[in-house]
This record gives sequence, structure tokens and C-alpha cells, in this order.
Amino acid sequence: MYLTNEEELMLKGEQGAVVAKCMKLLVRLGDIYGADKMISISSSQASGVSYKSIGDPGLEFLNGFADEGAKVRVPTFLNPAGMDLENWKELGISETFAGKQMKIISAFRKMNVVTTCSCTPYLFGNLPRFGEHIAWSESSAVSFANSVIGARTNREGGPSALAAGITGRTANYGLHLEENRKPNLLINLKVELKTSSDFGALGYFIGKVVKNKIPYFSGINKCNTDNLKFLGAAMAASGAVALYHVENKTPEAKNYESLINRLEKVEYSAEDLKKSYEELTDSPEPDLIVIGCPHASISEIEILAEKLNNKKLEKEFWVCTSKSIKTWADRMGYTKIINDAGAKIVCDTCMVVSPLEETNYECIGTNSGKAAKYIPGFCKKKVFFGDLNILIEKGLRK
Ligand code: F3S
Repeated sequence: MYLTNEEELMLKGEQGAVVAKCMKLLVRLGDIYGADKMISISSSQASGVSYKSIGDPGLEFLNGFADEGAKVRVPTFLNPAGMDLENWKELGISETFAGKQMKIISAFRKMNVVTTCSCTPYLFGNLPRFGEHIAWSESSAVSFANSVIGARTNREGGPSALAAGITGRTANYGLHLEENRKPNLLINLKVELKTSSDFGALGYFIGKVVKNKIPYFSGINKCNTDNLKFLGAAMAASGAVALYHVENKTPEAKNYESLINRLEKVEYSAEDLKKSYEELTDSPEPDLIVIGCPHASISEIEILAEKLNNKKLEKEFWVCTSKSIKTWADRMGYTKIINDAGAKIVCDTCMVVSPLEETNYECIGTNSGKAAKYIPGFCKKKVFFGDLNILIEKGLRK
């Protein structure tokens, strides 16, 4: 792989041992995937933040890196942590878990990583432009950045995203290259999707079919960015989809119009939609309802506030989002309405990466295809999967 003089020096340790380690990792990845050179990135987003996911070995690794003087050189944001960094006690998190989690956050802070923990950094300050090269690792954010924004990133691991943040570079392969962004499967919709949970259901179903291919959707007549966020997150969870195109909706779809008639075709019908809901549901009675997977946008919080205005929930109800979006919700008065109804806005974490398995809840209600797919395995809980209105209805009943 071709390296510039500066990159050669970085590799030789001229900019310190940590930079050399990071370059070595990136060069090795580039060699494995046949990259011709390194490219500059404008931002990075690192996963592997929750103590539940990385444990003590991860904490030691990060502390070691921070102590060696690692510093990121491009804006680098974090994925959700294992708890709300401020209100963790309210969520029943133990002192031990909280202590370890805060050490992880301190290590990242020492490296100048922005310690707002969220899987939707594109909603509040880390919005790449079309065509920009980035190195992100959260699968739903990768999918959104590639597909909805048209930025370019591979699905990085936590260490490679951090190495990219520290060097400001990534290897030029995979989805950074135009020729690898072509769709290779046409998904023809025969049903009208109405809610974000419908988009999550579609994503869950299609992810299993396409695995790591690039689907091109036709027949989606109406959608907003929140709907696409749900679609991409679920496809990345049940499959490994890092890029998709939606006819007339996503920015690169028009480049491939002439191709689509030659692609293998899969149909998605009303019957498939029904089946997706059934497959994702284990029990009809959730005792905890959690929305905000991926982290809720301000418009989702606004809609929830409208629906909960002057209502009183009987069941525990959480909305996961970033601290930044919560600040907007506070200013808009949405937080007060939501809290008055008995729900909590939970920041920095989510139902999958927090230690939900240590709580007494039995069944989690969610409108997210990704969360519904992951909760049984990651949190050992049953799931009710349904749209927001049904979740609220269930939340209002004892
Ligand atoms: Fe985000 Fe957690 Fe869902 S990281 S995409 S809210 S599983």
C-alpha cells in the first residue's frame, strides 16, 4: 500500500508509539482488504464504550492508550455507554458498574474524544457531507451515514475507529470506493409502510435475506429520515448491511436506475410484514417500554410529548437519546410533558448496552426492529414489538 512520507513517519514512531500502533493496525487492515493507499477522514465514531460490552480487558486497553498520550486528531464521538452518565442511580445501576463505566469515559476524555455517547451523532453535531470519508463503527450509524447522507465508511470495529480518529486516516477499500457501492439485490415493496416500526420490521426481514449485500428498495413511496434510521438499524442487526439505496429517496439511488432491472429480485408483502412482527414478539405484555433505538431525534420526542400530554402511564417507560437532544427537549418543554406522564428520558445509553439483564423486568416493549432482535440475546428478556401508539396504549394500562 502506498504511504505518504508523513504516514511512513507515523508508522515508524516519529509521532509517538501510540500513533505507530494505530498506523500499524490500519495498514494491516488495508493490506488484508487490498487497499491502495490511506485516505484522510473528517470524523470518527467509536463503539465499545459500554462496560457491559468491553469489560475489564477493554477498560485496561483504553486506560493504557490514554496513559501513553493517545489523542484524536479528527472529531471523534462515542457510541452509547452502559448507563446514563448522570442519572444512573435512578435506573438501578450498581456502584461497581458505574465506577468502571466512568473510568472508560475518563480514558476517552483524556484522548480528546467527545464524550457525548450516542448512536445518532449525525443528529447533533457530527453530520458528514455527501461523499465525505469517515470511519464510524456503530452499525446503525454506519448504515445511515452511507445510505441516507451518502458519506463513505466501512463498518469499523471499536479499535480501528479509534485508530482512525488518532491518525486521521483510514485505508481506502470497501465502501470508500465507488465501485463497491452498487446495489446487488432489488427489494420490491408490495405493502405500504406506515410507521417507523414497520420500517424496522422490513429491515429485520430483509437483513436476514440479504446478509451483507447492498439492497435497492423500490416501492417505498413515503418515508422520513427517522423511518430510514429504523430500517438501516434493523438491517444491520439481522444482517450486516452497511449501505442500502431507496428509489427516489436516498442520494445515490439515481446512479443505479439503469442497473436495477438486471438485479435478483425479492418481494416484500403485507404477509411478510405481519410475519416480521410475529417473529420479533415473544410476549404480548411488556412491563418496561423503551423507545429510542437508534437514539431518538427531536421530532420523535416531540411526537411522543404530544401523545403523552395530560396522560398518566402505569408502566415504566424510557426514551433513549443523546444528552444533546435531551437538552433541546428540555428547552422545548417536551421533557416536562414526558416526565409528567411518568416516562423518563434516558441519555447516553440504550436498552441493549445497559445491564438490563440485571433488572427484574420480564418483557421489554419496543418499536425498534434492532432492539427487538438484540434484547433476547444481549439482555435475556422477552420482547413485545409494536408501533408507538400500541406501546403507549399498553403503557397506560396496569
Ligand atoms: Fe443505538 Fe443501542 Fe439501538 S446503540 S442503535 S440504541 S441498540
